Amino acid sequence: MGLSGGAFAEGDLERGEKLYGLCSQCHGVEGEGVPLSLAPSIAGLPAWYVESQLKKFYGGIRGRHPDDIGGMRMRPMTLYFNRPDTRDADFAAVSAYVASLEPKYPEPLLSGGDPEKGQASYSLCIACHGADGLGNEALQAPPIVQISDWYALTQLKNYKNGIRGRDPRDSAGATMWPMAMTLEDEQAMKDVIAYIETLRGSN
Ligand code: HEC
Ligand code: HEC
Repeated sequence: MGLSGGAFAEGDLERGEKLYGLCSQCHGVEGEGVPLSLAPSIAGLPAWYVESQLKKFYGGIRGRHPDDIGGMRMRPMTLYFNRPDTRDADFAAVSAYVASLEPKYPEPLLSGGDPEKGQASYSLCIACHGADGLGNEALQAPPIVQISDWYALTQLKNYKNGIRGRDPRDSAGATMWPMAMTLEDEQAMKDVIAYIETLRGSN
């Protein structure tokens, strides 16, 4: 199945594959994610989402908070795209390449989440991420059905603790962080993540 549903120009994909050489060092050759590098699975994420995040990292909208350990590893990578004449095209090309990769469903690494409790919390998430967890481009909400669970936990904490999504330029993040506030504690986050994992294979 696809998460992104896009078709891409071949030239873009060739250029994107070359550029992806840098990314593979942390995200893995197939975009499967490498937990030790704190790099999540990104394979098959829609190009619009990948591109939006690369631009946020580049612009310092994401990944600049001193407590954002993962973000501070990722942000400098976007600074390689520093040629103003090719930057946007290169972000688009590498995003198209990431989107073209077969989605991966990383092994769960968290334990102790209760999917039944999580289902109740997830009712709030459906409006944007969908009952199937496939996201909604019009709302800038990415697919999360495939998300690396340890990474999802970090992101929910980051949104809740003001580490992601609070930059005044981050209009998409501004719709997400209040949702993370509804998850009372780490247990509630693990519960909702465990529920999201049950959506795998249903789409
Ligand atoms: C030095 C290791 C490293 C390299 C190289 C790297 N990344 Fe990352 N990347 C990370 C880490 C760590 C995160 C998690 C950031 C966080 O926790 O917020 C991340 C996050 C991301 C995200 C956000 C995923 C999401 O679901 O929001 C995208 C997209 C991404 N990287 C794409 C790329 C691309 C494309 C490249 C190559 C141009 C690249 N990365 C190179 C380490 C790296
Ligand atoms: C009002 C719409 C909306 C609702 C409701 C919502 N989200 Fe989000 N979510 C978003 C948007 C938009 C983003 C991307 C924001 C950004 O660019 O940082 C996002 C991002 C995320 C991410 C990070 C994905 C990644 O790859 O880094 C996770 C995890 C997440 N949401 C989980 C949830 C959960 C769990 C709920 C329910 C408790 C929820 N969301 C409710 C809009 C929403």
